[in-house]
Amino acid sequence: MDGLLKFITCGSVDDGKSTLIGHMLYDAKLLFTDQEKALELDSRVGNRDGKLDYSLLLDGLLAEREQGITIDVAYRYFTTDCRSFIVADTPGHEEYTRNMAVGASFADLAVILADATQGLQIQTRRHARICSMMGIKYFLFAVNKMDLAEYSQQKYQKIENDIKKLAADLDLELEHVEVIPVSATEGDNITKKSANMPWYQKKTLLKYLETVDIKEGIEEKGFVMPVQKVCRPNAAYRGFQGQIASGSIAVGDEIAVLPGGEKANVQSILYLDRPVERAEKGQPVSIRLNREIDVSRGCVLARDADLKVSSMFTASILWMDDTKLVQGKNYLIKLGTRILPAVVMSIKYKVDIHSGEEIAASKLHKNEIAVCDICLSEKTVYSVFAKHKDMGCFVLIDRVTNMTSACGVIRHPLRRSDNITWQKLDITRRFRAKRMGQKPITLWFTGLSGSGKSALANEIEKRLNLSGKYTMLLDGDNIRIGLNKNLGFEPEDRIENIRRTAEVAKLMNDAGLIVLTAFISPFRADRQNARRIIGEENFIEIYVSAPLEECKKRDVKGLYKKAMDGQIPNFTGISSPYEAPDYPEAEVDTSKYTLEEAVEHVLGQIKRYM
Ligand code: ADX
Repeated sequence: MDGLLKFITCGSVDDGKSTLIGHMLYDAKLLFTDQEKALELDSRVGNRDGKLDYSLLLDGLLAEREQGITIDVAYRYFTTDCRSFIVADTPGHEEYTRNMAVGASFADLAVILADATQGLQIQTRRHARICSMMGIKYFLFAVNKMDLAEYSQQKYQKIENDIKKLAADLDLELEHVEVIPVSATEGDNITKKSANMPWYQKKTLLKYLETVDIKEGIEEKGFVMPVQKVCRPNAAYRGFQGQIASGSIAVGDEIAVLPGGEKANVQSILYLDRPVERAEKGQPVSIRLNREIDVSRGCVLARDADLKVSSMFTASILWMDDTKLVQGKNYLIKLGTRILPAVVMSIKYKVDIHSGEEIAASKLHKNEIAVCDICLSEKTVYSVFAKHKDMGCFVLIDRVTNMTSACGVIRHPLRRSDNITWQKLDITRRFRAKRMGQKPITLWFTGLSGSGKSALANEIEKRLNLSGKYTMLLDGDNIRIGLNKNLGFEPEDRIENIRRTAEVAKLMNDAGLIVLTAFISPFRADRQNARRIIGEENFIEIYVSAPLEECKKRDVKGLYKKAMDGQIPNFTGISSPYEAPDYPEAEVDTSKYTLEEAVEHVLGQIKRYM
């Protein structure tokens, strides 16, 4: 039996979680916390996103609740004659599921409170599901407030049955799931057997925690250290700093530097600024190799480890943002020590918290769990969560608000993209452009419906042709009649509309053509994505900035009227936002000029890019 048990407590606000833990510590005379011991026992506690503060270990148990401090997770250390414990205590409000996920990623066992008078609540099911998703295999359900349920065996058994069903749903081993009837206020079955429930003869809560034998943790194979920093105190020395995520390493060992895969031997290891022969999991070290290899932050030093290098995977995620998850939207992902752009390509299904059923979905709301495919902007080192905790979990960050939008665990890699390589062609883009005698670029017109994009693009295309250029105009309405006829105007449709259009524009640029596009393209992030696809040097953004009032007045197609009557949902400018460009290469307000003048105005601004 491992001497140390790391567990998390979860429950809804009124389930009596603090009372229960408080009672346990009080009864067992365990009201002390010891910062140094906790540090020494699990040096990883302090390192989740740098969020934790060890002073939390010394905090009063109830203080944080009363003062309503919105801390992340409070870690407490305590010990009995049999065992040492670290408990991650998390606030129970729904908006705190975020904290729960953080606490759960550290724990081996979850103590989940249920209210005997209420039965299994949706929040309790959610907590169990999140804990299970974050890799916890051992569960102790404390059915609390038995005093208020007249210590009724019948009531208890009903809840116990529901819990067993839930456990089966979550694919938990039944012998890893314990259910105990307790009363936190009265102290029944917390540390002492209750005389009020003679029908319950098994262990008390504390006894169970003291004796549970955790065998099935995640067995992390091999040595893994994500590089946090490359330091070079002098010209001859290059050390790679990081915290060992798993395994151990000794001077002389051969390691690989991923994603590249180059090999080298460990020349020296510094731990706490002192040279050591070997170092192990949890220790922050600086490693020097015996030869020069290109290593940067985000690389991973590994030996015999189960790591993957790819740019796509399938993951389970818990959505935590107030705004919903949209397929195709760009986020930042924090994975290991790397932060890079990532897109949730598709939601395969979401999981019904009640029944565990898999439901088709194209959006995710706060606190929903789903399985989805995620694509990273480049090949990255990671692991399947079941093989390596630290390298297999991640968070998604909203690029605008900088909020953590989701946390997730990687289920399996997707190799789709890895098996496709760019086919080199003999007739090149440069060759084609040269034959046409022009610089292939894309003039990207953006603006409200009715702002005059199409008219302007049409005139400019004519002018370019008159001067001997070869061109193609991609107009929003026309493309939506053909290539994009399967797309509507929901945000995810618009994202895809713009992505496809950008890819087509790029192909046409490759063919040598000058491309003009006329799409509302209301979202900044999508235009940025188009710029990335087409290439910064070929992308000329032209903002057609006629004010909304003017566009409404023109109402060429009668759509504004319909939209204002509520007949067209998600209409840009009315019921869906338009995000104006910050730094367009050109801008023209068509309400101030004749078409002729507007054309001259734009041509004047873009001349230098042609
Ligand atoms: S975009 O937002 O995805 O870039 P796009 O330029 O392709 O839009 O299509 C816009 C055209 O579709 C408008 O000019 C209008 O004729 C028509 N349309 C139909 N429904 C909507 C809507 N909800 N919002 C905006 N335009 C719409």
